[in-house]
Amino acid sequence: MSSTKLLHVEVSPRLQRSHSRKLSQEFIATWRASHPQGQVIDRDLTLQPPSFISEAWVEGAFTAASDHSPEARTAIGASDVLVDELLAADEILIGTPIYNLSIPAALKAWIDQIVRFGRTFTRNETGLAGLLTGKRVRIIVSSGSDFRPEGPGGAYNHLDSYLRAVFGFIGITDLTFVYAHSLNAGDVEREQVLAEASAAAHKLAAAA
Ligand SMILES: Cc1cc2nc3c(=O)[nH]c(=O)nc-3n(C[C@H](O)[C@H](O)[C@H](O)COP(=O)(O)O)c2cc1C
Repeated sequence: MSSTKLLHVEVSPRLQRSHSRKLSQEFIATWRASHPQGQVIDRDLTLQPPSFISEAWVEGAFTAASDHSPEARTAIGASDVLVDELLAADEILIGTPIYNLSIPAALKAWIDQIVRFGRTFTRNETGLAGLLTGKRVRIIVSSGSDFRPEGPGGAYNHLDSYLRAVFGFIGITDLTFVYAHSLNAGDVEREQVLAEASAAAHKLAAAA
């Protein structure tokens, strides 16, 4: 039987001081304990930033492989690596800050690489359809203010609804968010919020 695979996508450019990175590591420690045969694949978007979409990429994505220029082959080959990682995963963990009301550009660049016609979505008789089934996404979100959807800054949160929409578009509707919010609100509130987010991350990682 093949082992369960967790694709771990990390976003924050802060390698040491990042709250989302620390909480992701806590999630992974518990996930490893509850999945002894499990495999974690790390995709660090700060250490290996995905390219932005280029003209060569568009050529690679929307023309026949036999017609590709060398540039198109390179561009779409890099995308294929990321798509293959996603397809192989049973579960996806994303650790990300909120930047300017939404996802950081590095995460958007990764999404632009993995939303691919014919690979992660297609068109059928009823319209566009996601091709990914049976996967779930866990998202650990850090933010300076309280941007939880039900919180005081919820109306500014364009990360939550966007990620639900774009993963839904490729067929993944099982999303769970853990919010480490209000991290700029002062030491007492930060410590309390981090303890709650840590407990939620461990609980989620232990769930079957
Ligand atoms: C460029 C930038 C934009 C930010 N935008 C927001 C924002 O829109 N809302 C918010 O609550 N916090 C915002 N923050 C605060 C971060 O979300 C917060 O510091 C978070 O802890 C960063 O994640 P990290 O600790 O994993 O690096 C922003 C921070 C930076 C550097």
